[in-house]
Amino acid sequence: MSLRQSLIRQSLSRPLLVLSTPRSPAFTTLSKLYNKHPGLPGENDPGSGTHSRTDKNVKIQYPLEKNMPRSVPYQGHGGVHDKRTLASFSLEGRTVVVTGGARGLGLIMAQAAVISGANVALVDLNEAEAAKQSSAIVSHFKSENPDSSHTPTVTAHHADVSNPDSVSACITSILSTHQKIDHLITSAGFTENFDAIAYPPDRMRKLWGVNVDGTYLFATAVARHLIERKSRGSMVFIGSMSGKIVNIPQPQAPYNASKAAVRHLAASLAVEWAHAGIRVNCISPGYMMTALTRKIMDENPELEKKWVSLIPTGKMGSPEDLMGAVVYLLSDAAGYTTGADLVVDGGYTIT
Ligand SMILES: NC(=O)c1ccc[n+]([C@@H]2O[C@H](COP(=O)([O-])OP(=O)(O)OC[C@H]3O[C@@H](n4cnc5c(N)ncnc54)[C@H](O)[C@@H]3O)[C@@H](O)[C@H]2O)c1
Repeated sequence: MSLRQSLIRQSLSRPLLVLSTPRSPAFTTLSKLYNKHPGLPGENDPGSGTHSRTDKNVKIQYPLEKNMPRSVPYQGHGGVHDKRTLASFSLEGRTVVVTGGARGLGLIMAQAAVISGANVALVDLNEAEAAKQSSAIVSHFKSENPDSSHTPTVTAHHADVSNPDSVSACITSILSTHQKIDHLITSAGFTENFDAIAYPPDRMRKLWGVNVDGTYLFATAVARHLIERKSRGSMVFIGSMSGKIVNIPQPQAPYNASKAAVRHLAASLAVEWAHAGIRVNCISPGYMMTALTRKIMDENPELEKKWVSLIPTGKMGSPEDLMGAVVYLLSDAAGYTTGADLVVDGGYTIT
């Protein structure tokens, strides 16, 4: 065996961690050797994949509406109880607008607002699904509160959050029923997985339009209403832990960047609107098991294994895990909290 062959063999049998000290003699030796051997990773071989923790073979497209699984409202803990808690957590008499409220996280957070005393406007591209779910939320409320004299008003409204005219028509429609808006939750958003170089530009723009423009357009429309009404209010933007870390193995650069933008938008608007008593905060969820995530896991079982292995609590979150977080941030209990990012991720981003 030649000296070079023996060096390659020894080097490759060492952990790749050696490569993480780029100035070390071992790194230099390895790099030189690798560069003489096409196909092995090295300084002049950026595409080999050995260093990459994302896998470009993972491609997941956001499903067409007809293939979307339906979410169901949460059953349990929505009735009257005798556990004492702070009155400042109540949303009694408030009107909460939830974008993306027909499904997934938006639906459960809307239900949390109803359980906490609010009336809710569900906004979604799929108005028919939002209408079905608004009836479902009210019937759950009635079955869990059979003696209540109050029935919450839960309405459904169409909007494409990325379209300014659609947003403005939607605000008019909400005000014609509810007369006022006090709070906003922006949950309309989606992710897709394509390797960055192959990402179809039209899909990238669409994703940015919904996740970033959609949050901005709804937030500014609600702030305009609050300022005209000379009323205080609060908003919660749904970001993602992907705005702080880079997920592996699925490639999703535009989504990650869009969620970093959502988080910083919350902070920026919090400063801009503090004078008007409008608080703006962000929630950054980790991996949550919605109906859609369940479908993706069933179709890509290796992803679930990988994801769970990286979560310190050893499991994915349930949409219900966001109920307390969103009610807290919307309510007066968070009166001095603005521009914050509440991470709900089972500890994923700590490590
Ligand atoms: N599920 C997770 O694990 C997870 C984790 C972190 C962050 N998030 C974020 O939470 C938010 C909700 O995600 P989800 O898992 O509930 O998704 P989901 O697909 O179940 O629900 C999203 C809803 O938004 C609606 N929507 C999509 N585009 C729209 C548009 N242009 N205008 C109006 N409505 C539109 C959809 O019709 C759907 O009802 C998203 O912003 C997502 O990025 C989700």
